[in-house]
Amino acid sequence: WFFMMVSERILVVEFGSQYSHLIVKRVRRLGVYAEIVYPDELEKALDETVKGVILSGGPMSVYDDESPKISRELLEGLGIPILGICYGHQLIAHLYGGLVRKGDAGEYGGVKFRVLKSHNLLKNVPIESTVWMSHKDVVVEPPEGFTVLGSTDYTEVAAMADDDRRIYSVQFHPEVVHSEYGAEILKNFVYEICGCRGGYNPLSIVEEFIEENRDLADANALVAVSGGVDSTVTAFILREIFGDKLHLVYIDTGFTRDRDKAFVEKFFREKGFRHVHILDRREFFISRLEGVSEPEEKRGIFSRLYFETLNDFVSRLEEEYGVFKYLGQGTLYPDVVETGRTSKYTDRIKSHHNVVYRELSRLELVEPLKYLYKDEVREVAKQLGIPRDVYMRHPFPGPGYLVRIVGRVDREKLRIVKEADMIVEEELKRHNLYEVIWQGFAAILDVKTVGVKGDMRSYEYAVVVRLVESEDGMTAKHAEVPHIVLTSIARRILDEVSGVNRVLYDLSDKPPSTIEFE
Ligand code: XMP
Repeated sequence: WFFMMVSERILVVEFGSQYSHLIVKRVRRLGVYAEIVYPDELEKALDETVKGVILSGGPMSVYDDESPKISRELLEGLGIPILGICYGHQLIAHLYGGLVRKGDAGEYGGVKFRVLKSHNLLKNVPIESTVWMSHKDVVVEPPEGFTVLGSTDYTEVAAMADDDRRIYSVQFHPEVVHSEYGAEILKNFVYEICGCRGGYNPLSIVEEFIEENRDLADANALVAVSGGVDSTVTAFILREIFGDKLHLVYIDTGFTRDRDKAFVEKFFREKGFRHVHILDRREFFISRLEGVSEPEEKRGIFSRLYFETLNDFVSRLEEEYGVFKYLGQGTLYPDVVETGRTSKYTDRIKSHHNVVYRELSRLELVEPLKYLYKDEVREVAKQLGIPRDVYMRHPFPGPGYLVRIVGRVDREKLRIVKEADMIVEEELKRHNLYEVIWQGFAAILDVKTVGVKGDMRSYEYAVVVRLVESEDGMTAKHAEVPHIVLTSIARRILDEVSGVNRVLYDLSDKPPSTIEFE
């Protein structure tokens, strides 16, 4: 079920690089549906709708025995254009008999790229422009039949093409915005070389989903809404299919944001949703999570309690409304790729609540957003008339504040993290930064430190402020916000939240950290 019914698509073969998602997003933004496949899935994924294949970057060297490869026979058999990027470029050179030199210095960041030969792939790219590089190995000799299209000071074969075989490749990353004409190059590949017609937009995926699933409406469906954009859009889409057979439930686990409950109740009723249920399960959750410290154990317990609550509630609903068959979930494409599939080349980092524990649901999952990225969901939300303050909301993890309480869970830490988090959000909004960054929140450490309040010694918790910039949560950079924003957050937390005497700012990026703390 990973493959959407579309008339044309581009497959991006993932060799272990986080950039693959960026390539997919760029191609989609150009109006052509794209998706990720792993090397061993490529052959199976091929059909007449596939108009081109992009071999993406990856952290390894083509000379490593362990590095992911695909065979030359498979590539030859594709019969459609191929574009190699970075590792993909080196792999093509390697497979077709060119020479790849194992580099040790490498080339990183923006460098000058010179066009040596005009070509469709480089249409509208000026003779000199900046491209973004991140590589150690270099192609020093192109394979026979390939022409060098451009180079940089360090990399002679920075772009090459074999028009007979319809194979093209570049050492730099056209998907990165720092490559000045990168979007142009991807556009040339997709439209000029692969002959795509375009017309894809995220709403078309949603409309198609609705058309294809109309026959589900023989039973009732449930969506657990949180007040965030993903579950809200899911509810709107499923209403198109199920009408009044759609029920919404908000489960107050206590690890949720307090104000979301009132919002959900009012918003969906105003929007004409017939069945909006609110469940207060705060005591149930905290009493079972109190004292638990290990991150995966916490996630496991939370998910079991969550689905137990949901399954029990469904039984209650069924007594009144008849059979329920479906559970709508706002799972997104990166969640599915990051945790849903296990691959030799990617490690499972953490058990994302809505992906890993899916089998705990008694109902069959319906996931209308599973092909979309967050920014695409926001676009759909906008087109559906959902208000901006809903669709621009920062992502909030399924297990909520649970993953922001480092170490042992207790009621005091939960209270602190919730209060501090509200202050972070308010201050970001007050400084007009909320929509600029991907995510901003507070977490509480399992550490108390010594401080002085009045003239008294204090021994209280340390709170961490985490503000990150990101494309889709797969990688992230800590945000460089004006210092005054950080100090106003810190001051307010220290003044207003009891039990805290220290506020820290998290300077780590992902990788090596993750965005959440657990
Ligand atoms: P990490 O911490 O893995 O987070 O770097 C990446 C993005 O995913 C969100 N996140 C979750 N979302 N269920 C969710 O729906 C989860 O269990 C979960 N864990 C993390 C996180 O907020 C960030 O945006």
